[in-house]
Amino acid sequence: MKFFVDTAEFDAIAELHELGMVDGVTTNPSLIKKAGRDILEVTKQICDLVDGPVSAEVTATDADTMITEGRKLAEIAENIAIKVPLTWDGLKACKVLSGEGNMVNVTLCFSANQALLAAKAGATFISPFIGRMDDIGLDGLELIEDIRTVYDNYGFETEILAASIRSVNHVLDCARIGADVMTAPPAVIKSLVNHPLTDKGLATFLADIEAAKIKIL
Ligand code: E4P
Repeated sequence: MKFFVDTAEFDAIAELHELGMVDGVTTNPSLIKKAGRDILEVTKQICDLVDGPVSAEVTATDADTMITEGRKLAEIAENIAIKVPLTWDGLKACKVLSGEGNMVNVTLCFSANQALLAAKAGATFISPFIGRMDDIGLDGLELIEDIRTVYDNYGFETEILAASIRSVNHVLDCARIGADVMTAPPAVIKSLVNHPLTDKGLATFLADIEAAKIKIL
């Protein structure tokens, strides 16, 4: 499963990138607002660092303006994935922009039927928001499973990009189901390393190193 980082905070992306943990990046208007940066400037900076897809979202709601914005975003770098919302206008923009050879990420997906439409419109990525479904008592992981089944049934190449990841359990469950990609905030990715038995085992080893005065250098 590919790891995308869900943030527009450049330093956080750079830290994980150095460890080889960044296969791509996703941003959205809320993340751009949080970073307090100009969308074109910060997206360019991220694209210069990361080789994989970098999603940047359009701001318009009508297809024609989305297409114009998408073309402008695509000029930033070759690894831009233009992000459009899952509306009829968004699907129309997806069809046109993907037809022009751009990567398109169709976002705000909350049903397998929506995911089916996105695949038929040529989406490179479909972004089901599992955390936001869980927030209202729906089953986000069941959605990922349904989309996996539907896409595999018909050989769609659109990649399932599990989004709105809130926990380490979400990451593992998405990997078990076979999501192609998951995008998570840096804090969630960093917390994947944590395990109490690792901490406990290391504490014992350190105590024994001290007691036996073990030295390598
Ligand atoms: C990514 O593409 C999404 O915009 C993001 O994962 C949404 O996450 P949130 O529901 O935590 O805001």
